[in-house]
Amino acid sequence: MIVTGGASGIGLETVRALRKAGAEVAVATRKPTGDQLALDLSDLHSVRTFVASWTGPVHAIVANAGVMALPTRQVAANGWELQLATNFLGHFALITGLHENLRQAGDARVVMVSSGAQLRAPFDFDDPHFERRPYDPWVAYAQSKTADVLLAVGAARRWAGDGITANAFEPGYVHTNLQRHIDAATMRARGAMDEEGNLLMPPHFTTPEQGAATAVLLAASPLMDGVTGRFFSSANQEAEVVQGGPDATTGVATWSLNPSAADRLWHYALTATTTH
Ligand SMILES: NC(=O)c1ccc[n+]([C@@H]2O[C@H](COP(=O)([O-])OP(=O)(O)OC[C@H]3O[C@@H](n4cnc5c(N)ncnc54)[C@H](OP(=O)(O)O)[C@@H]3O)[C@@H](O)[C@H]2O)c1
Repeated sequence: MIVTGGASGIGLETVRALRKAGAEVAVATRKPTGDQLALDLSDLHSVRTFVASWTGPVHAIVANAGVMALPTRQVAANGWELQLATNFLGHFALITGLHENLRQAGDARVVMVSSGAQLRAPFDFDDPHFERRPYDPWVAYAQSKTADVLLAVGAARRWAGDGITANAFEPGYVHTNLQRHIDAATMRARGAMDEEGNLLMPPHFTTPEQGAATAVLLAASPLMDGVTGRFFSSANQEAEVVQGGPDATTGVATWSLNPSAADRLWHYALTATTTH
């Protein structure tokens, strides 16, 4: 199994739990130590090197690595908006690059770590990299997390005949390095920080272990045999399908599961990742 971003936060707990259950897990990370493997998802050259060096079947990929709400528009070396490049396009190149290895496993699983943020924005096919519309840190994050769900839907539609299932989930609110770009006022407004800057644990927050639980379920549980193209909540339940938008608080947006959007996005990402 491969867990991206498996050296910290929810990814680290996912790796620990999968290993405890007996799985052989490769940790793919930007700054590898020990037996970890180097992978920078914002750099297609790095992704291709990772793919080329892999031999043999892959039983599961947990696409967990991510960045959130970069305050200003940052771009990868090839000009892609950095949240989309890291959270989605890099993972797309990785997962499609390893398709044959997944197929060889016979019953492989793709697990996309998405977010409740997918409720906030559909994928913008007209301007995915914010080249013409004003950059918004949260819209950029939300779009990338919607794209992660659509990747699962697209893979489920294409790869069922190869025995590959693909699902997405949201891990809930968890204190990790992911919040490094969130200012104190926003953290306080969420009830996640006190006036002195100490982190608080409001009831709607969970631990990294709890956040990892759904990843482990989707990657390894026999309960998920044959289940594909679905979105799960952090409570390990399939999420209710709702209209996305500013008032949506729980569930999965219709735009995140839309099969036409999934197919369109697949073609967009395939062209983008093979021509850059
Ligand atoms: N925490 C939450 O409340 C929450 C809520 C909803 C969804 N999520 C999702 O959960 C996933 C895990 O996040 P987390 O909360 O555990 O945060 P985290 O501790 O910051 O983990 C994110 C991981 O992604 C890695 N990463 C970032 N950019 C990368 C790149 N270009 N190439 C390869 N790896 C890269 C990071 O590596 P470095 O250490 O090198 O930066 C880090 O290991 C993310 O996809 C996030 O969107 C989290």
